[in-house]
Amino acid sequence: MSMDGKDTKAPRSQGDRGDAGNQKVGSQEVGSQKVGSQEVGSQEVGSQEVGSQEVGEFEPKIIGFLCNWCSYTGADLAGTSRIQYPPNIRVIKVMCSGRVNPQFVMKAFQEGADGVLVSGCHPGDCHYIEGNFHTRRKLTMLRDQLEFMGIEAERFQISWVSASEGIKFAEVVSNFTDRLRDLGPQTQLVKRGGAR
Ligand code: FES
Repeated sequence: MSMDGKDTKAPRSQGDRGDAGNQKVGSQEVGSQKVGSQEVGSQEVGSQEVGSQEVGEFEPKIIGFLCNWCSYTGADLAGTSRIQYPPNIRVIKVMCSGRVNPQFVMKAFQEGADGVLVSGCHPGDCHYIEGNFHTRRKLTMLRDQLEFMGIEAERFQISWVSASEGIKFAEVVSNFTDRLRDLGPQTQLVKRGGAR
């Protein structure tokens, strides 16, 4: 109220307090960063828990042969549309599902794959007219051979997925992964000293 020096100092001191307040705000921010880092720490703990789950739980390895013109584009669409599906699949792009030689499938199993997916254009939509008809015939016979060798037929799947079916691709991979989780690891054809 008075205009003496004391009063003029008071606002300064308030101002000082204000600065100090800012500093406190700053320190609170620092504090919140600490809280943030604690949160990060807890997330890290969470990821460690996930890591321990990975050690304890079986996660199947899937090799997916996808034709360039339909299924690979469908998988790409699933990715760009941010549709979630299990990360268990490793994709090998082929120009047509008809390019997949049965030996490729056998090799994948020998190298430690728990399941193999071959995916191409719907019958009648093959870019090379009738490539997927050959696929269906060849690989259906292969399934019988796999069963003869002691590999469950469910470990090998053929699915037709078009370029516009991102959701279907995600469903195919999710369902196949769930089925392989139930079946457990494939050990019948794995080479000694192979991936497992
Ligand atoms: S080009 Fe896709 S299955 Fe032949």
